[in-house]
Amino acid sequence: MDNPLNALGYKLLTTSLESDSPQEEKFGILTRRGFLLAAATLTSCAAAEPLKSGTLGRAGAAAAVKTTSNTAYRTPTTQGPVPRNPDMALDSNFSKANGISFSRVHVSGNYIAMTYDDGPHPQNTPRLLDMLRARNIKATFYVIGQSVNLYPQIVRRTVEEGHEIGNHSNTHRLLSKLSDSEISADLARCEEAIVRAAGVKPRTMRPPYGGLLQKQREMVHAQFGYPIILWSVDPLDWKRPGPSVVSSRILAGASAGGIVLSHDLHGQTVDSMPATLDALLRRGYQFVTVSQLLAMQTPVPTTQPAVAPANS
Ligand code: NI
Repeated sequence: MDNPLNALGYKLLTTSLESDSPQEEKFGILTRRGFLLAAATLTSCAAAEPLKSGTLGRAGAAAAVKTTSNTAYRTPTTQGPVPRNPDMALDSNFSKANGISFSRVHVSGNYIAMTYDDGPHPQNTPRLLDMLRARNIKATFYVIGQSVNLYPQIVRRTVEEGHEIGNHSNTHRLLSKLSDSEISADLARCEEAIVRAAGVKPRTMRPPYGGLLQKQREMVHAQFGYPIILWSVDPLDWKRPGPSVVSSRILAGASAGGIVLSHDLHGQTVDSMPATLDALLRRGYQFVTVSQLLAMQTPVPTTQPAVAPANS
């Protein structure tokens, strides 16, 4: 049977995965309060910053997960109709032989990949999905396994709406400090969480903080088949500089074949997206997922050695 997910390059899997380790079993009984405490140790992909105390109030720790940063959010008004990303029939099957690490991809065309890390988040990710859907934009979400287990329905929706899910580890630890077997176990738990939640297998990974040594990258690529996806634009949105700064940094760094890093974990980042996406669309960018970008990779033209002019 033709499943539309095949067009996205997902390998469909059964969702019945057995818990195979005591640690995973332990995670199964992790309480929401426990997650909040764990979440307080999560920062961003790009750099580590201690979470300010007080972000999670005493009452907040016991109550449902709430965002504190987007209470003033208003859907920005746009001039005229929302610009729309074109419908594109693009392949998403990339050759694993084309490279291990990517911070951008050489393509012929004005393509760009938006990537959103550290979700799913119960409020901000659905808000972002609404914005993307209004513009027909497909993006890539590098999710944390522990959060996938808390909000599987959001991951399911993300896949159903045509976006790509990538592996961002289970616990958002700095993988370069771990042993090979610890890295494998952590990435495997995230992959299993994604399969359980949405029935699809991630095809690329992004290391938290971008931290993965070359020999670890080779190990991960060999074991999981993941290319290691970094970024060409980092708006440092995790420092919460305000939506307009996030937007202007992304617009300043955008280029064809680029991979834009930001975090759907943060309300300000999501607030910045309508203006950012509309400006990129007006500049003629076409939005693709990371796998689609990888599938469009063209060889970088080798610069011809300058021929010395003949002395006449
Ligand atoms: Ni991250």
